[in-house]
Amino acid sequence: TIFSDAREASKVVANEIAGLIRARNQIGQNTVLGLATGSTPIQVYGELVRLHREEGLSFERVVTFNLDEYYPIRPEELQSYVRFMNEYLFDHIDIKKENVHIPDGTLEREDVYKYCKEYEQKIEQVGGLDVQILGIGRTGHIGFNEPGSLEKTRTRLVTLDELTRADAAASFFGEEHVPRRAITMGVGTILKAKKIYLMAWGESKASIIQRSVEGEISAQVPATFLQKHENTKVILDEAAASEL
Ligand code: GLP
Repeated sequence: TIFSDAREASKVVANEIAGLIRARNQIGQNTVLGLATGSTPIQVYGELVRLHREEGLSFERVVTFNLDEYYPIRPEELQSYVRFMNEYLFDHIDIKKENVHIPDGTLEREDVYKYCKEYEQKIEQVGGLDVQILGIGRTGHIGFNEPGSLEKTRTRLVTLDELTRADAAASFFGEEHVPRRAITMGVGTILKAKKIYLMAWGESKASIIQRSVEGEISAQVPATFLQKHENTKVILDEAAASEL
């Protein structure tokens, strides 16, 4: 779906998510959300916060799993996704702390493998992701599944692409400070979500959106695997859709 701007598009996505949360709340069931970071979902979170404040949307039965986190990173660092999520969403809603899951950037290297396996198990234990929201990196990454990530990959430690590190340079005050690795849900983890929203705004995303939506399915552009998912919506502004 192509919208005239990101704001309008974000409202639609937020409203659809809110609708699901309300329906589940009414029957006393949890809603499991897969969340993303980066600039793309910020207005969706803003709208969800507004719906909480002004319309009483309750997140008490919402369970969240974030896609990824830099590794290593401490949660209090400016660029950590823990900090990002608190700032844009969790600090402003009534979600329970124990229901929030973000990959841990402080683990010892030898503990990462087991941790990633447990992250997958936790998602399964709550019945899987009802909704996964995604942005897209200019490499075609979803989460931090960089080119070369296979369809069946699961939560794991990955090496970041040079383009991804260059794109993150400004927020880390120099590329040399950008971590070389990250923990990310896999392509396979994402594809198990019951519903996926892939969002992109602005002309810098136009080319990778064209390749992702219209290109051949390949690990070279991990977002192309979404073409195989039965319930993915691609939500774009006009600029991001300009090469389709
Ligand atoms: C980071 C995140 C991705 C995100 C991408 C795009 O790499 N790990 O999940 O999709 O950035 O960022 P932005 O939304 O700022 O363009």
